[in-house]
Order: sequence, then C-alpha cells, then structure tokens
Amino acid sequence: MRLVHTIAQVREAVADARRLGSTIGLVPTMGALHEGHLSLMRQSRRQCGFVAVSIFINPTQFAPSEDFASYPRTLDDDAQKCEQEGVDLLFAPNALEMYPQGFDSWIEVGGLTSLLEGVSRPGHFRGVGTVCLKLFNISQPDRAYFGQKDYQQLQVIKKMVSDLNAPIEIVTVETQREHDGLALSSRNRYLSKVERQAATVLYQALQAAQAEYASGQRDSSALEQVIHSVITAQPLAEIDYAVVVDADTLLPVDTIDRRVVVLLAVRVGLTRLIDNIILNNDATNNWIIPD
Ligand code: PAJ
Repeated sequence: MRLVHTIAQVREAVADARRLGSTIGLVPTMGALHEGHLSLMRQSRRQCGFVAVSIFINPTQFAPSEDFASYPRTLDDDAQKCEQEGVDLLFAPNALEMYPQGFDSWIEVGGLTSLLEGVSRPGHFRGVGTVCLKLFNISQPDRAYFGQKDYQQLQVIKKMVSDLNAPIEIVTVETQREHDGLALSSRNRYLSKVERQAATVLYQALQAAQAEYASGQRDSSALEQVIHSVITAQPLAEIDYAVVVDADTLLPVDTIDRRVVVLLAVRVGLTRLIDNIILNNDATNNWIIPD
C-alpha cells in the first residue's frame, strides 16, 4: 500500500492503475477506522481492481461548536488497518492541500439538506458535498462507497452525483453493529461506560419500530410514538429527532404505503449519535451483527 499526502501523487497512482486496466474504487473517510469503514473497503476490494481510501477530517463540515478539534486522529493505526484490508492507496492530505488559500467554491444540494441533519447541523452537508466532489475529481473513481449508517449523507451524495452528472456509481454498504446492536461510529469512543450502555437505546427503538411495522402497523405517527417512548425511557438519552420519513425524499409520510426509513438522532450525554433502519416486512433482514 502507498500512503500519499498530495493530490498530484493520487492522480499519478490512479493513472498508473488505469493504464493497467483496473477499475477504481474510492472509500472516503475521516479516519479513526472501525469495522464499519473496513466493510466499505472489503466491498470495494471485491468489486474493484484498485482501491483508494481517503482519510481527511474535513473542517468545512464541522460547525464551530462541534468536535473538529477533538475528533480522533489515529493515522498510524488507520494505515495499518488499510494495509491489512489490501488497500492500494491511502490518501491523507492536510487541510491546505484540500483548501488552499483563496478556496471559495461550494456544493449546495437543495431540498434534502434543509431537513433533519441539515437543520441540526447548518452548513454540514455543504462541507460534505464539497469535499466529496473534490475527492471524486481528485481520484476519478468508477465507484465510491458509502455507509447506510449516515443515511441522509448517502442520499445527499446520490442526489449531487445525479444532478451534476458525476460519472460515478455510488455503492451503499449496510450498517455494521456491535454485539448489542449499537452502530459502529468513530464517536462511540466519546461515550463513558454508563453512556455506552445507554446508547443501545437507539437500536432498541429501531427494533421496536421494525417489530411494530412487521406486525402490520402502517400509521407513521403511531410508530414514532413507540420510538419516542422507548428512547425517553432512557434517562441519559435526549432525542434530537426520531421520525418515519419517505426513504427517498426524507419528507414526512402519514400512512406507510411506500419505502420508508426511520431516522434517529439522539444525544447520549454530550455525544450525538445517529442511526436508521429501512422498514420492511422481514424483521430479520436488517441487522448486521457479528456472530
Ligand atoms: P466517516 O464518519 O469517517 O465515515 C466514512 C464512511 O463510513 C461513511 O460512508 C459512513 O457512512 C461509513 N460508516 C460509518 N460507520 C459505519 C457503520 N457502522 N457501518 C457501515 N458504514 C459506516 O462520513 C464521513 O466520514 C464524512 O462525512 C465523509 C463522507 C468522509 C466526508 O468527509
């Protein structure tokens, strides 16, 4: 595996791979890699001749009050994990390489970004869209891999790619979970022992919603009530939002007569966690839990 820090080095490595006829896969991350990230790399390894991973803690997607300064930085450890997964190229630029002085062009995806995470984190998706388009232009992959864990981000990226005709296939990878159902996240390491225990309430709420749906409940406000009652029973948890929405537009639905997703953002102590589930009739189908 090659570890590089400049855009020029990425372009050169990707051009070499293309000359050999390889398809290129890109896995964008902010590092502090866990099994969720590694599952994206594995999927890319299965589907592409050349796998590039980026690690860049993107300052433009953090609000001033958020955890940019304290976000875990573990490059040596991350590089080892990438190596073990058979990654070909690891791109770890610094902020100036990505945002040189005078940088001032931005991606604004409409509609979707004014909802939910977009309300709680103004400007967040502008930063995400901008950095992802830059990473796409830098590495020109055939496929880019994103986790379902960040459901709204995935929808925003798909919309941007479609609206702007980026010649890339966006591949979705299922959410990887701990044994007790907590979705893996770099931010889980902020949780104290007692908060970590309490954080399973997100999974429990999703499970309760899935069970209600599987038993025939099609009224979304009734489902939301079930979800709210599970979460509010946990004193350390505070709901930011917990909604049942159209899986494509993320707009509210009354009666569930189409594909819907349950989206949760919950604060446990000071840590804000998100999770989701797409509802279907097979209650066993949605959980990727290790044996
Ligand atoms: P980061 O939080 O590091 O996540 C990188 C990718 O890993 C995202 O596509 C995310 O959805 C996926 N991921 C995280 N946890 C996962 C889990 N438990 N199971 C499966 N996939 C998981 O998301 C970002 O970084 C940034 O916003 C980024 C897209 C890199 C732009 O800066």
